Amino acid sequence: MVKKVDEIRKKFKDEFNKISSLKELEDLRIRYLGKKGEITNLLKKIKEVAPEDRKAFGQAVNTLKVEIQNLIKEAREKLEKKEKSRKFDLTLPGKPLIAGKKHPLIKVMEELVEIAVGLGFEIVDGPEIEWEYYNFEALNIPEYHPSRDMWSTLFITDKMLLRTHTSPVQIRTMENRKPPLKVFHPGRVYRKDPFDASHAPAFFQAEGLYVDKNVSFADLKATLEMFTRELFGPQTRIRFLPSYFPFTEPSTEVLVNWGEGWLEILGAGMVHPKVFEAVGYDPEEWTGYAFGLGPDRIAMIKYGIDDIRLFYENDLRFIKEL
Ligand code: PHE
Repeated sequence: MVKKVDEIRKKFKDEFNKISSLKELEDLRIRYLGKKGEITNLLKKIKEVAPEDRKAFGQAVNTLKVEIQNLIKEAREKLEKKEKSRKFDLTLPGKPLIAGKKHPLIKVMEELVEIAVGLGFEIVDGPEIEWEYYNFEALNIPEYHPSRDMWSTLFITDKMLLRTHTSPVQIRTMENRKPPLKVFHPGRVYRKDPFDASHAPAFFQAEGLYVDKNVSFADLKATLEMFTRELFGPQTRIRFLPSYFPFTEPSTEVLVNWGEGWLEILGAGMVHPKVFEAVGYDPEEWTGYAFGLGPDRIAMIKYGIDDIRLFYENDLRFIKEL
């Protein structure tokens, strides 16, 4: 019978040597030390042992039991340490990589730039914090002129403000260059507007300006037709509505057909002589057109969005859907 104890010891050692996880170790423990385990079974066999050998048998089983308990305890500590210190488990599934996505407004801005470049415009830049002179004065919007109300904004000092439109870049460009020129400026603008479904206190604009000899309204019309067809597709039609801007004459609002109706997406006109005078161009010699696009509006039309605030809330669920 003592031989039987040795057999169990050998069997245990074989199995024990194959253990590689805490789970396997626990299963092994139950198989040997559990209520129905090998050790308990051995002890039950004591009845079969001759009375004079029972003591020796009992001791042998007990020794084996203690041996197994110790081995399991040691192995458990080792395995626990190992599992804790393991930095990566190569068998675990990887963390999904969250790929970024372009914001719909950025996509529209990039598209506008691409179209403008295709039509021969050069991309220029300008500051968002602007002198009152560039935002208003040089654009033929004198102080106390009621049209300043159309572009109410936040002033930083008496003379400095958050620009209300991209048109000051017209002045900055012409001041620094001689005509002819054909420039396009995408950028951000600010207004003292409420944040509601159709207004945002900060939004995007893109400005186009072409100055040359004998530029006519027909040139403006052709350019805007090409522009909008690139943007919304070849079937796009546009409609001009008379409008008023102090820096263009005549001035127009441009609507595109979309679904059942017409949507306004830009303001435009022929550069006003006063604007040429402000930058030292001779209005008798030079002519030009200018236009200002609303990328937020365009993105709303293109993506079928009815609330401008969605663009600025940065809710990933919204961005991911587009
Ligand atoms: N700057 C005008 C606006 O913000 C748009 C415009 C640009 C109109 C250029 C005419 C020419 O409303």
